[in-house]
Amino acid sequence: MTLEELKPEIKLIVTQENLSTDKRLLKICKILEANIDYYNWVGFYFKNGDKDELKLSSYVGEPTNHTIIPFGKGICGQVALSNQNFVVSDVNTQDNYIACSITVKAEIVIPIFVNGENVGQIDIDSNTLNPFTEVDERFLEFVCKQVAKINDITYQF
Ligand code: SME
Repeated sequence: MTLEELKPEIKLIVTQENLSTDKRLLKICKILEANIDYYNWVGFYFKNGDKDELKLSSYVGEPTNHTIIPFGKGICGQVALSNQNFVVSDVNTQDNYIACSITVKAEIVIPIFVNGENVGQIDIDSNTLNPFTEVDERFLEFVCKQVAKINDITYQF
């Protein structure tokens, strides 16, 4: 499936209220990883209660030790503070980067906003160098907007 073809599928998953929030998020991770060859690790992090840290939610790909990331640390922690997309074409160029796997060459992190508040993010690692374009950014912004519609998304953790 192309990115455009994936959009209605993502919408459908979000509205599956018979599934728990984490199951819906996992389905989104799975469908993205399975359909886009340069999306090799796909996961969601959310603000951990009232702490200034992110907590790993659903993901597909290699297990990571980085289930908690303090705000400001790594690409994810920087997005928690900047409220902006972060596209890293080559992770070797980044000083403030948390390596999860030696196979990862690039990363994209897009924040999730609920009522204007940065509540979490989608994080995607790629084993390909410089794979992400503005098309990915716009598509992942769409995914994050859909995820923000899940009723209890802010109460998840
Ligand atoms: N590389 C991320 C850490 C999370 S892993 O990619 C799963 C970072 O620098 O924040």
